[in-house]
Amino acid sequence: MRSRVCKARAEARFSNYLFPARLTLRRRLSRRVMGNAARKPKPSTSVDAPAPASAPTRTPTRPPARDVSAAAPSTPRVSVDDDDDDTPPAPWREKKQDVAELEAIADAEAWLHRELSGMAISRDYPELASRCAAVAAKWKRGMPKSVWLRVIKGGRLVKELNESAPVIARTMKYVDALRVSGREDKAVIVDLCSGFGYLAMFLSELLPEDKVDEIVLVDKMWAAFGTTPMSHHMNWAHVRGEDGWKYEWPIKLSTRKVDLKDYAQINQMAVHLFSRWNGPFIVLGIHLCGTLSIKAVEMFNRCSNVKHLILKPCCLPDFSWTYKIEHFEVGSHKHKIPTKDVCSKGKWKRNKWVGPPRHHLKLKFEAWNDHLCRSIDDEDGNITKKLQEIRVQERHFQNLFIFSDRERTRKCIVREATGCTFPTPSGTEAGRWAPTGSGFGTHVRRVAA
Ligand SMILES: C[S@@+](CC[C@H](N)C(=O)[O-])C[C@H]1O[C@@H](n2cnc3c(N)ncnc32)[C@H](O)[C@@H]1O
Repeated sequence: MRSRVCKARAEARFSNYLFPARLTLRRRLSRRVMGNAARKPKPSTSVDAPAPASAPTRTPTRPPARDVSAAAPSTPRVSVDDDDDDTPPAPWREKKQDVAELEAIADAEAWLHRELSGMAISRDYPELASRCAAVAAKWKRGMPKSVWLRVIKGGRLVKELNESAPVIARTMKYVDALRVSGREDKAVIVDLCSGFGYLAMFLSELLPEDKVDEIVLVDKMWAAFGTTPMSHHMNWAHVRGEDGWKYEWPIKLSTRKVDLKDYAQINQMAVHLFSRWNGPFIVLGIHLCGTLSIKAVEMFNRCSNVKHLILKPCCLPDFSWTYKIEHFEVGSHKHKIPTKDVCSKGKWKRNKWVGPPRHHLKLKFEAWNDHLCRSIDDEDGNITKKLQEIRVQERHFQNLFIFSDRERTRKCIVREATGCTFPTPSGTEAGRWAPTGSGFGTHVRRVAA
């Protein structure tokens, strides 16, 4: 009899070893059936309960009764086993609108003024802050409520305006200094990794229309020309309009879907943007993550009609680069950036930093910015470059900006800018740069004869 019991136990143990999930399920089921009785007795919370004796005592067969009255009603119940939580889901309730959101709807100008007060922009550029508040009021008047709510969603407008204020101020200065006699002298601004496009939106309102022809928002999350945006694309209603409504931007805004890590797509920018316009370009790269900053530097180096570059790097390149290469090599002068000096572990996940403490990265971040600045070709004195700290974030160290200017610009030649002739190996998306898909030919769809 005893050996049969032992054998059954051994078999059960072996089966649990093979199917641990079944064991967990069985345990859960038995707990559900037996309820609290199956759980371990908890120490009494009663104030009247006898104090535990110092001498070892025998474990009582029944746990002492719990004094329910002793538990304060406000004491939060800590769930021991989350899996056991049988409580029904909370009833659905309409989300209350954020107070800031309501204020932004009531009086956008006063709201933005209030939000910006105490931030770097109000301290360093008070006049710009006031002008931007007036611009926000104009948007609120001119946009449907749904679009305006998207613009102010999650406090992005305030944060991005504050952090790009030095870039807006500097770009206004650059444009002011331009001498324009006709359309062909007008500047084109390229906002790399534009995201929603706040920087471009403010620039469109603040820059003189007679000096800037267009602002191009480049991001991989836009939908391509001629397609309907899907849920994973960025909504472009504020740029291109929707349902018969369109906001009249003083300076034309246009979106371009480009993956800056795809060599062929960068080349397409040279073919369809830089080489088509003789006027000066201003390239802005704000909050560029990792190696995207290198892409911005390379763009400035190769396209000889880019007059100004402003770069504000964001996070460092991923540590996995150190397993692949020893150096990033940038520029015709082949500046070497040792990957071990600039790559870091950790990344942002849903606005939360997951990785080593961020202050550890300060030195690496400084080295990264220094290297990026030195990666800019100086074209025998034709280019000046400067790395500058401007405190836009009080609690973080990411306050470094790279400003680079080309004294004399000249026409961008595709072969020089790209190092190759087209068609490109992966340049298959006709219409990305030319909505008609006609005549602009490196990647025009082949139509069967
Ligand atoms: C940190 S946000 C910067 C947005 C905006 N410039 C700002 O100042 O807040 C990064 C943006 O880069 C875009 N992005 C990331 N990788 C990219 C890539 N390989 N090519 C183009 N855009 C990219 C993302 O879609 C996102 O909109």
